[in-house]
Amino acid sequence: MSGSDQASQDWIASTGEPIRGEIRVPGDKSVSHRAIMLGALADGVSEIDGFLEGEDTRATAAAFAAMGVRIEATGDGRRTVHGVGLHGLEAPAQAIDCGNAGTGMRLLAGLLAGQAFDSKLVGDASLSRRPMRRVTEPLARMGARIDTADGGVPPLRIHGNSALQGIEFNTPIASAQVKSAVLLAGLYARGTTEVREPHPTRDYTERMLSAMGWPIEFSPGFARLQGGGQLKPVRINVPADISSAAFFIVAATVVPGSDLLLRGVGLNPRRTGLLDALRAMGADISVLEPREEGGEPVGDLRIRSAALHGIEVPVELVPDMIDEFPALFVAAAAADGVTRVRGAAELRVKESDRIALMSTGLRSLGIRVEETPDGADIHGGLLQGGEIDSGGDHRIAMSFVVAAQLAKGPVRISDCANVATSFPGFMELATSAGLNVAPAGD
Ligand code: S3P
Repeated sequence: MSGSDQASQDWIASTGEPIRGEIRVPGDKSVSHRAIMLGALADGVSEIDGFLEGEDTRATAAAFAAMGVRIEATGDGRRTVHGVGLHGLEAPAQAIDCGNAGTGMRLLAGLLAGQAFDSKLVGDASLSRRPMRRVTEPLARMGARIDTADGGVPPLRIHGNSALQGIEFNTPIASAQVKSAVLLAGLYARGTTEVREPHPTRDYTERMLSAMGWPIEFSPGFARLQGGGQLKPVRINVPADISSAAFFIVAATVVPGSDLLLRGVGLNPRRTGLLDALRAMGADISVLEPREEGGEPVGDLRIRSAALHGIEVPVELVPDMIDEFPALFVAAAAADGVTRVRGAAELRVKESDRIALMSTGLRSLGIRVEETPDGADIHGGLLQGGEIDSGGDHRIAMSFVVAAQLAKGPVRISDCANVATSFPGFMELATSAGLNVAPAGD
């Protein structure tokens, strides 16, 4: 059952303590999805450590189990994936439920387009509203046959036995999901598949393919591979997810007296836009012990509270912090002056319309926000208590928990069950670090 089908869960958050201590947030969602997918297609046994035990990534693991892949949970965050080889998947008996996960559905669409069997992908209420033509159109150019519902939304019906052909694809959208769907179909295609992006996006698919011995050329904004090969099994250490760390980074920055250490955070340069934006606003963030783990840059982040001022967020940072805007809006509300966000229209088609929900929510807490089609102007100010609709979006819910730490009264946040899609144990970890949040009593 996916989060949004569960009974709605409301939370109450209010001013807590300074944010202090040493914590590690759960594993990276993007890496965890890909580790299961590529591990399943490898010839042999892959080991994953630090796997995100969230609903989104577990849905991906369940999808491969339903296609005959043995995936053993050998401990918290540990999976042993008995890969079946590129052509070893079995037809699933039922529709595959991707839950809330856009990454799961879009990457699976590419991967399943190359199989010998038919399949159907479904999702929860939020995922069922999200645009899928961005993947089905390039995949159709490769020869895939995928039907969507009216309006280009899920469910996706994928017809097997399609002879795929490599393409040169200049994607109009800076999206790692689109790029990855095409590259995964490219594994099964004749000839060369090439993707060029308008702005570079996260390159985990490319890095993992390369680590698994698949010849691939890639550089920021570009990837090229040939179809027909083999994947070698690997050991994957999943770093802590910077998108989950983001809520603590902002909380420790805006709550006076804070001094927090976040351990083992993934610092892939395509993910660190929030750090750049916050530093430009005056944040005090240092990277301790920068290192490489499993081919990924990782470091411990020390965050001390600092006074922020508004900035114009550089448009080129947008893809590097695409999941961090809800948290950034909260930092902007706490900053002196105006923070201007532009070039971020993609936020309107995430798990919710994040520009609309963050703007409405902050306004109801007394902050002046002017929305534009691709961003907002957020005027820093004093936050009051109030009621927030999270729209069932995990990142909106967690962002308002952070905002509430500065509010003059309690903040009630509706529909928080989906926090478990990306951040199981958020409430406990947040409370241990000094934030004040609890389930709402009715
Ligand atoms: C992801 C890519 C991003 C991001 C999502 C995860 C991925 O989406 O928002 O949370 O794992 O490839 P887009 O590629 O659509 O921007």
